[in-house]
Amino acid sequence: MAQRINHCIGLRFLNKPDILTILNKAEQIKTDQTIVNLKNQSVVHVFFEPSTRTRLSFEMATQRCHAFPMMLDVKTSSLTKGESLVDMMRNIESLGAKALVVRHSNGGVPFFISQHVSIPVINAGDGYHEHPSQGLLDLFTLRERLGDLSGKHVLILGDIMHSRVAKSNIWGLLALGATVTVSGPPNLIPECVSDWGVNICYDLDQCLGTVDAVNVLRIQFERQHGIALPSVREYREQFGLTKQRQDLLAKHAIILHPGPINRGVELDSDVADGKNNVILDQVSNGVFVRMALLSLLMEDSE
Ligand code: CP
Repeated sequence: MAQRINHCIGLRFLNKPDILTILNKAEQIKTDQTIVNLKNQSVVHVFFEPSTRTRLSFEMATQRCHAFPMMLDVKTSSLTKGESLVDMMRNIESLGAKALVVRHSNGGVPFFISQHVSIPVINAGDGYHEHPSQGLLDLFTLRERLGDLSGKHVLILGDIMHSRVAKSNIWGLLALGATVTVSGPPNLIPECVSDWGVNICYDLDQCLGTVDAVNVLRIQFERQHGIALPSVREYREQFGLTKQRQDLLAKHAIILHPGPINRGVELDSDVADGKNNVILDQVSNGVFVRMALLSLLMEDSE
């Protein structure tokens, strides 16, 4: 890396050379089948929120790097007896863990932990803040299909406000020189995105024809706390990616979704399962990207 990173907290904190180093390493692992040997070092995964893809992907990546994945069951941990988060993480480090993978519903928790341990911390998604490994696998998949992302135009569609995936995509795409537009209901788009250099488009049908890719976000029903959508039906009518809307895209344009999909809400099944979607490629690529992250953070850390 241009400057070695000690943790992976967010793409906002990485520059273009850092991001390219991770993507290139993932590409080497995928295409050249480069071996990563982390010599049985233990990686502890601590998930305070539900997960299917990220959790299993990190577990598989850890195994394929010849390291040892350990999943802490938070519900039966000594946190329930009043132990503090910092004490728990320090104890996990003292047990011999060589890296921590942490998902939490509050933004900032992985960063906070990283200030109290001396092993690498990887953010596996924190609140509305960031989901850097998802952002990296999205960049990897976009680059695999579209080539160099500099000058490419990516639309991020949906609940930008509550989406950590949106934030990681925005920072990563901007760092690589792509143009980023967001679209969704006004109450789900934070105005500050304009200050970040992102375009806002409220008329989805108008901007679809101008983009190389659409990253469709899940409506985060669990995070909306009363500022929700007028109705799911209205949302689908105005911002759902239907087959009719897919036909407005350029022929080469691809469709991404980080999963899990609310079928019939943000994405219709005939689009999710149809042509030009790379949704399952994203999932497969996630393992290579996470192997690259573990390798870059942990190799030579013995
Ligand atoms: N994309 C993603 O984070 O999915 P999971 O919540 O299943 O990990």
